[in-house]
Amino acid sequence: MSLIEIGKKYPSSKNISGFIQLYEKYFSSLRDSKINILEIGIENGDSLRIWREYFSKANICGVDIDKKNFKIDNVDIQHGDQSNNVFLLSLINIYKNFDIIIDDGSHQAKHIISSFNFLFPYLNDNGIYIIEDLQTSYFPRYGGSRINLNKKQSSMNFVKSLADSINYEKNNRPFFKKNKFDGLIKSIHFHQNIAFIYKGQSIKYFYNQDFKETLSDKIKKFLSYFF
Ligand SMILES: C[S@@+](CC[C@H](N)C(=O)[O-])C[C@H]1O[C@@H](n2cnc3c(N)ncnc32)[C@H](O)[C@@H]1O
Repeated sequence: MSLIEIGKKYPSSKNISGFIQLYEKYFSSLRDSKINILEIGIENGDSLRIWREYFSKANICGVDIDKKNFKIDNVDIQHGDQSNNVFLLSLINIYKNFDIIIDDGSHQAKHIISSFNFLFPYLNDNGIYIIEDLQTSYFPRYGGSRINLNKKQSSMNFVKSLADSINYEKNNRPFFKKNKFDGLIKSIHFHQNIAFIYKGQSIKYFYNQDFKETLSDKIKKFLSYFF
């Protein structure tokens, strides 16, 4: 059965949002792999049931801030807050690394950003970090803004800033300042209300730890403010 067909059996919002079609595209090559999957935010467990049926060999862990009174065969359900790094570390102590991380939790910008900052280092190379419901980036109650699309701490601007980690260095030497995720993000795929962030080097990572700014670099830097 395809992921879309499996999705029809369970009333997760992933069906009506159109995300399930995207997941089919992004997950199909991983279907039979022995991978670790983490989903933040599980509500009634329907997305976990979908993943369980689709991924035959994966270890699947779902977490939620609300204590759940249901069980799903072969799925690890953990109770905790995505903004609590001690809780997230307890997951890492069990799983070591993940291949897929889906953030479908509080949708609060500060939680999306703090979970990404903590968990991304534990995503395997070629792993995918997915952030759902990015439309919340335009809602003030989720830490976003409808008016100021440049609001620094919104979830969309955080994800957009990660795009600089793909391109920035090569084109900005000698002005390059290393950002936390530079050289670690291979690609970012934006679709309506959802982003898929792939971990890994793109072609070649140009950052050089020993880079020293020369006089000609200083002149270039000065001129760059005008051109
Ligand atoms: C949209 S629902 C998840 C739906 C589910 N992933 C699906 O597709 O069927 C969001 C869930 O995130 C949980 N949640 C909210 N804040 C959270 C937090 N800080 N940490 C972990 N889970 C949180 C809520 O309790 C809720 O169950």
